[in-house]
Amino acid sequence: MIELPEATVIAQQIPGTMRAVVVYESHWGNTAAIARAIAAGIGPGTPALTTTEATNAALADVDLIVAGAPLLGFALPTEGMLRNMGASASRDPVPPDLSHPSLRTWLDALPAGDGRAAAFETRIWWSPGSAARAILSKLASLGYRPIAKGQRFIVRGKYGPLREGELERARAWGAELVRSLASSG
Ligand SMILES: Cc1cc2nc3c(=O)[nH]c(=O)nc-3n(C[C@H](O)[C@H](O)[C@H](O)COP(=O)(O)O)c2cc1C
Repeated sequence: MIELPEATVIAQQIPGTMRAVVVYESHWGNTAAIARAIAAGIGPGTPALTTTEATNAALADVDLIVAGAPLLGFALPTEGMLRNMGASASRDPVPPDLSHPSLRTWLDALPAGDGRAAAFETRIWWSPGSAARAILSKLASLGYRPIAKGQRFIVRGKYGPLREGELERARAWGAELVRSLASSG
């Protein structure tokens, strides 16, 4: 048996020959929960990775990158926003997890590729702006071809929780992505 380094994350082998990873930014856990549900919908063992865990090695030979982030200040969060969130964390009901780079920073460091892409965001229902659109556009500019429109998952308040049924919807969307990937040639 081949011993793999502990840090190596093996991407899910979707039935057939395709592999996928879900990468997320999350400060209060809503996007992380959606990411895990999408990964479960894609197939058992599909990793849902923080931006720290989603190293180039973890993405090697991946056919589909699904990336997601919260919509904050009507936009895909910037490092500046995260710094401000850190400065005002004592006023939050639960302090934000700021231990990982933003998805924006992760995307800036992502090498160009020729795989497929999908993107999602968590948000309150009425807000203008779209993090998913910004993610998809960045992935497309790097050569990753979108296989689905950006998907929105809704929270009930500023910090969550997720609206009822969103985890199930995320899981179903993950399964749908596998079908889109298979038919996208
Ligand atoms: C400081 C702050 C700013 C936010 N700005 C927006 C916004 O502009 N539009 C929106 O739809 N939701 C906004 N939200 C709600 C978040 O998008 C939502 O809670 C998201 O699910 C948080 O994701 P996370 O728990 O994975 O960090 C904001 C929340 C916070 C705390």
